[in-house]
Amino acid sequence: MKTFNIAALAGDGIGPEVMAEAIKVLRATEKKFGFKLAITEAPVGWAGIDAAGKALPDATLALCKQSDAILFGSVGLPDRDPTIPKEERPERAALLRIRKEFGLFANLRPVTLPKALAHACPLAKERQGNGIDILVVRELTGGMYFGQPKKTETLADGQQRTIDTMVYTTSEIERIARVAFKSAQLRRKKLTSIDKANVLENGILWRETVTRIAREFPDVALDHMFVDNGAMQLMLKPTQFDVMLCENMFGDILSDEAAALGGSLGMLPSASLGATTGGTTFGFYEPAGGTAPDIAGKNLANPIAQILSSALMLRHSFGLNDAAAAIEAAVAKAIDAGNRTGDIFSPVEAGAKRVGTREMGDAIAAGI
Ligand code: IPM
Ligand code: MG
Repeated sequence: MKTFNIAALAGDGIGPEVMAEAIKVLRATEKKFGFKLAITEAPVGWAGIDAAGKALPDATLALCKQSDAILFGSVGLPDRDPTIPKEERPERAALLRIRKEFGLFANLRPVTLPKALAHACPLAKERQGNGIDILVVRELTGGMYFGQPKKTETLADGQQRTIDTMVYTTSEIERIARVAFKSAQLRRKKLTSIDKANVLENGILWRETVTRIAREFPDVALDHMFVDNGAMQLMLKPTQFDVMLCENMFGDILSDEAAALGGSLGMLPSASLGATTGGTTFGFYEPAGGTAPDIAGKNLANPIAQILSSALMLRHSFGLNDAAAAIEAAVAKAIDAGNRTGDIFSPVEAGAKRVGTREMGDAIAAGI
């Protein structure tokens, strides 16, 4: 029986609670489909700082390197930030470091609004059309997040001056564009590339490069949109989008906006992938929402984003397509049966049953 090694890093806030539900569902899947998952848990984020003095403890990094994939919860507790230098905070020292260290340049964030959750979408029903189904493909290791120089300096007159640098090379744009075109080929074959080519040098190179790569994918229809218009179009007519290709920061912003259309950030999974070598793709799988400290430890968080992230892991890193589809179907079934965590609950919805994190996980595991 094939064994897959998973590093499970739950992190902070709601991370441990939603991770427990994802592991519960993975165990149900393992039983049914006959593969073996060797899941090893390790601390990261503030949990890493508390356990070993660092947001990404050496032992946790070593475990990740020996694993076939990383299943990640979430990190960061803003209240504790002032107690350590900004370079040591979990977002930079753990999350961004892992993205860079493992070359995870392609971030896939699929947003779907299930029919049963139409009420949880902030848009009027007529704007939802036959349902919203968008894949945001976000470049994850370039742009402003990593560009140098990046610093705050004090000028002679005493005021401060701050610099972040947006930088992309042709090859960085080419490889993420290919991921986006290939993703579109498996969907509705439409790609919208987002840029700010009317202002930024980065935008001009982005647009030229994506246009050139499009010739390799003649079956995909490509259009371009400035990011400000893209943000507006998401609100006005989200059904026009199939795949949206974004550089790092634009993708960060638009994927949160798109997530709201899917009913809740608590529903949005993500896959961060590196290059495929020898037929396997190392990947990092995490919910796109944060640690939600205000509801942590109360059995209130929606575990669906974490559970769907584990489905993406089975598909993209292990090639277990049937098992991944079974998890997605079980999530749909649990929603159709009326199970609602607080973020997707509406008192006016007939048949809705308000449930906690564990009960949602139980319902999904039972549906495998
Ligand atoms: C995300 C998050 C991160 C990002 C933060 C926590 C650093 O917002 O994954 O979207 O900005 O990439
Ligand atoms: Mg974000």
